Amino acid sequence: MRNFMITGGAGFIGSNFVRYLLDKYPDYHVLVYDKLTYAGNLDNLLDVHDEPRYAFMRGDICDAAAVDQAVRDYQIDTIVNFAAATHVDRSLMEPDEFLKTDVTGTYVLLEAARSHGLERYHQIGTDEVYGQVLEGRSTEEDRLHTRSPYSASKAGGDLMCIAYYTSFGVPVTITRGSNNVGPYQYPEKVVPLFTTNALDDKPLPIYGDGKQMRDYQYVLDHCEGIDAVLHHGQLGEIYNVGTGSEMHNIDMAHLILDTLGKPRSLIQPITDRPGHDRRYALDVSKLKTLGWQSRHTCAEAIELTVRWYAQNQWWWRKIKSGEHYQAYYQQQYAGREVKS
Ligand code: NAD
Ligand code: TYD
Repeated sequence: MRNFMITGGAGFIGSNFVRYLLDKYPDYHVLVYDKLTYAGNLDNLLDVHDEPRYAFMRGDICDAAAVDQAVRDYQIDTIVNFAAATHVDRSLMEPDEFLKTDVTGTYVLLEAARSHGLERYHQIGTDEVYGQVLEGRSTEEDRLHTRSPYSASKAGGDLMCIAYYTSFGVPVTITRGSNNVGPYQYPEKVVPLFTTNALDDKPLPIYGDGKQMRDYQYVLDHCEGIDAVLHHGQLGEIYNVGTGSEMHNIDMAHLILDTLGKPRSLIQPITDRPGHDRRYALDVSKLKTLGWQSRHTCAEAIELTVRWYAQNQWWWRKIKSGEHYQAYYQQQYAGREVKS
């Protein structure tokens, strides 16, 4: 593995992974292949722009000819697929894009891995495929119980990966991560949304009773988990990645406000997300057998993230002042306030 194609590398986790890979492995080369949807942003990669081992190509993972050409031109031996439509709320508005990218796009990349005889195809998956877990923790053997178009599409992608491993011997590995937080996350996801709203003294729209639980992990811990699986994982296997602990959303909101010295009165309950999964919780013991260990708790991860957004307002103010974001915010949040 030397010549990596990082699909979706201009997004949140992908761009953090690109930086991580280039820093850690001086002989690795990285091609970022990304469609640059609303969530893709070359600002996320500004600091690697002049690195000779880095290249960027704009393209859709559903476009088989363009993927084929990229693999050929850059003598790719490894694909790590971060490209996806990723936001649950948008999957409730427009499921179509989720099916195309997360299922068909994965299939196109697997076909490229098969026809070019790549050394590795790694799929970035999500804990959401297990569905809500009211008690206990999900292991990699658990049945999939998807409840949103996002999680159903991601499950489709994972299953296609296993099918290509089993049927065609494509050297596939899969990681299923919990909620990531950290630098460069598009401010539709809850932690950057709440943080940036709080910085502007705007309401924090919390869904329902705020008692849902998520495992908020620091993005670089996730990157280390992916690295561990790429270098030490078993082919055809799935590995969960998370802190292995959870936090209530209301506590996450309090932590953000307390970190910024803002009043808790900014919290605004709104009507719940339809089909809102109450709790995700991962058993991460399989990944630990590869020597990996999460470095940050949920609280530490959130605090680091809040500070990054406070110090990097140039990055998110451009996004939030844009037409696309404003229209989305209006469509998603207008008129949902619940009077207490
Ligand atoms: P993101 O939305 O920030 O970025 C997605 C990237 O994919 C963007 O750069 C976008 O331009 C690109 N993209 C979208 N459709 C594409 C297409 N058809 N062709 C090429 N590029 C395309 O997402 P993220 O939060 O960085 O998530 C990355 C991966 O990690 C996804 O597969 C997601 O399901 C998974 N994941 C995310 C989280 C999380 O908390 N964010 C947790 C677990 C797993
Ligand atoms: P999100 O960041 O969308 O991730 P996911 O739904 O994929 O876990 O949401 C995280 C949690 O925060 C989830 O329980 C929904 C909740 N949430 C809110 O309460 N308000 C919001 O405005 C958003 C976007 C999410």
